[in-house]
Amino acid sequence: MKHLLTLGKYFAQHKWRVLSGFVFIILANLFKTYNPTVVRGAVDNVIAKLAGIHTTVDGKADVLAQLGVTLLIFLATYIAVALLEGFFTFMMRQTIIVVSRLIEYDMKNDMYAHYQKLDLAFYRKNNTGDLMNRITEDVSRVRMFIGPSLMYSANLVCMFMLCTVAMIRVNWQLALFVLIPMPFLSLLIYLLNNRINKGSEELQRKLSDITTNAQESYSGIRVIQAYVQEKAMLGFFEKESDEYKQLSMKLARIESFYFPLITFIVGLSMSIIVYVGGIYVGHGKVSMGNIAEFIMYLNMLTFPVSALGWAVSLTQRAAVSMERINQFMDVQPTVLNDDGIKATVMGAIEFKNVDFVYADTGIHAIRNVSFKIPAGQRWAVVGKTGSGKTTLADLCIRMYDATKGEIKIDDIDIRNWNTGQLRHQIGFVPQDIFLFSESIQENVNFGAETSTLERAAIYADHASIHEEIKQFPQGYETVVGERGVTLSGGQKQRISIARALAKEPNILILDDCLSAVDAATEKQIEKNLDKVLAGKTSLIITHRIFSLMYFDNILVLDNGAIAESGTHEQLVAAGGIYAELYEKQAATEMAEDASK
Ligand SMILES: Nc1ncnc2c1ncn2[C@@H]1O[C@H](COP(=O)(O)OP(=O)(O)O)[C@@H](O)[C@H]1O
Ligand SMILES: [Mg+2]
Repeated sequence: MKHLLTLGKYFAQHKWRVLSGFVFIILANLFKTYNPTVVRGAVDNVIAKLAGIHTTVDGKADVLAQLGVTLLIFLATYIAVALLEGFFTFMMRQTIIVVSRLIEYDMKNDMYAHYQKLDLAFYRKNNTGDLMNRITEDVSRVRMFIGPSLMYSANLVCMFMLCTVAMIRVNWQLALFVLIPMPFLSLLIYLLNNRINKGSEELQRKLSDITTNAQESYSGIRVIQAYVQEKAMLGFFEKESDEYKQLSMKLARIESFYFPLITFIVGLSMSIIVYVGGIYVGHGKVSMGNIAEFIMYLNMLTFPVSALGWAVSLTQRAAVSMERINQFMDVQPTVLNDDGIKATVMGAIEFKNVDFVYADTGIHAIRNVSFKIPAGQRWAVVGKTGSGKTTLADLCIRMYDATKGEIKIDDIDIRNWNTGQLRHQIGFVPQDIFLFSESIQENVNFGAETSTLERAAIYADHASIHEEIKQFPQGYETVVGERGVTLSGGQKQRISIARALAKEPNILILDDCLSAVDAATEKQIEKNLDKVLAGKTSLIITHRIFSLMYFDNILVLDNGAIAESGTHEQLVAAGGIYAELYEKQAATEMAEDASK
């Protein structure tokens, strides 16, 4: 339960609303518990007046007329009190339920903002579904606690006290008969609720299994049809659906107990009141009006008391959810520096004896790497898959911190830079391309202050994709991804390059960004980039050798360490890994040319 204490700061933000909510609860209940006494007055009045009728035959019409007037007054009082009660009940919901929505909104925003700050290591450990669940489902469970659960509990406490006092003042023995069944009612509803919650969670899980399953069959439909597995998939789906049906029928069975159970217990209490109350009336301990009054109290208490069981189980669920939310909210971003140096990046990059080990797997991805790229130079990093190239690129924009050693940008330790400011000035093309489900124009201009077509076109042209975009019927308006066209891997890579160039950065880091384009396009892009990159510091990471581009220096990575370093000519002459790679590549290219 201690996890729910985190909510304190949110309540504090809305303290006036919360307080007025509680005042409305008290007012609503004061009026609500007043009406039974009005009914008692009316009933007792009728009985008293009718008892008088038999004595004087003449006065009968008079008495009846008088009775009519008195009853009208009682009726008017009842309606007025009920209206006031209704008004305050409305206000109570308007404040408490609204507060729960406001807090839900605040929490979601806080969580989203916090998620955005967390580093890659966090995102590797936790899957997207889990993150989504906490920001949607868990938050809404907490909201149910803040809203309905808290409101009904406060309401119950208030009403219980008022009713009990009112009843004890009339006759405490009869009051006991009304009160004794209440804890049982509450407990039974609580147990029933837990069963229902468990059942609906099972149902929810099954449903999400079915959804995942269906989704997968639709996206994998080509494979399914090509392997003629439609029947098998259908069988599987039917089985899952059948299980879902069984579970929902079980749940419906449990749920059908709900109202009969309440009705039964209340009915039992009611009979006892009428029976015992009748005897007490005979003994002159209570009046007929009191019985009517008590029946009303009983009915009034029934709903809140059963809601208590429900509120308790909601609270338990909310506590579990809050714990899950806190788990993520307590994670501190390790690589963020908001107070760091804000300066214009000139472009020098230096690694000093850098080591990097992935904390989760223990893989030693970078080993004692040192180099210094002066501002404005163009370097390449070449190496086999798994040699640590992507890790090196990630370190340059501080996606991770080096395990050992020092990384400097413009002679300032990367940890002392304002992280956002630094990243803002580096054009980065990650190896796993990601484009948003938006227009190409928006994608190219992502991160820019203004998104104009001209701007997008210029940089798309620099990335050698302009001509292809023009061919699309909707040009730069073409929407990419799930909701739009499917681009080829090479097209996505070039849009991603355009996006990095559009930032007009002084440093550009391209991670294996031409792996999906064909050899001819690669040559064209190489020539294009050769011009565009002039004057910028660029680090071009590739597993192929770009022979058409000039590089000031080339690093060859092998198993995380620098194996060779030098210009193209030097490395070819040295006859090491690079030379071998170059010869192989030249040979295949020649063979390809020959076959044309
Ligand atoms: N997020 C990660 N967590 C753990 N190990 C990783 C992660 N990313 C890469 N590695 C490991 O680090 C090594 C270097 O990988 P990477 O930098 O991606 O190489 P390259 O880009 O040259 O293919 C590999 O052994 C790889 O399995
Ligand atoms: Mg890589």
